Amino acid sequence: MLGVIGAMNEEVQLLLGQLSDISESTHAGITVSTGNYKGTDIALAQSGIGKVNATICTQMMIDLFKPEKLVFSGVAGGLLPNMQAGDIIIASHVVEYDMDLTAFGRRHGETPGRERLIECDPDLVGKATTAFDTAFEGVDGAPNLMLGTIASGDTFVQDRDKLRWLQREFAALATEMEGAAFGQTCRLNGLPFVVIRALSDSSSDSASEDFEANLHRACRNSFELMDLMIPKA
Ligand code: ADE
Repeated sequence: MLGVIGAMNEEVQLLLGQLSDISESTHAGITVSTGNYKGTDIALAQSGIGKVNATICTQMMIDLFKPEKLVFSGVAGGLLPNMQAGDIIIASHVVEYDMDLTAFGRRHGETPGRERLIECDPDLVGKATTAFDTAFEGVDGAPNLMLGTIASGDTFVQDRDKLRWLQREFAALATEMEGAAFGQTCRLNGLPFVVIRALSDSSSDSASEDFEANLHRACRNSFELMDLMIPKA
């Protein structure tokens, strides 16, 4: 069983449309759809936005559905100037950027007894990369692919200074609001995971407008990758 989570309805609905033999149940206010995705058994859930919702959803899914591995997919804000809406980021690492114990001499993102940068499973990263190549090879207007760190926090980033700080402090490529919480939950449960995001905006002044304008295309791109990855994961 593969666990698949997205934060918003738009981020899970295309996958839901391909699921057969569906059964649904609701736990902690979150509906989980289990079924067969082109030959692979999956549990699919919409967590809701933010780190707390992502944590609750991930732990609930692990406890009740016993996935052997998990993928979080959806959209993110890019942090580098040459990125385009629709480009795909596969996380090599995730970091909870708004964990701040700097008053005790810790680095931003560092929690005692935990890794600051949590590594995604290299095998799942490789499978996601292969799925990207298969999905977009030779396609006109294909998105770019980047592998690197995704920084997660409970803020929709629409701020030039903050995006530069995230890039420089964490060497992050993109920011979103769930990946590190999901990743830490998987890590503490000893389960392999990966986070896959398509860019909806550039985390700068026009981020919320760009988000609205690009959400559909970004969700479509991450779906195209996930659609090929899930049967091989
Ligand atoms: N998800 C998509 N764009 C984002 C942004 N700019 N900040 C946080 N989460 C996002």
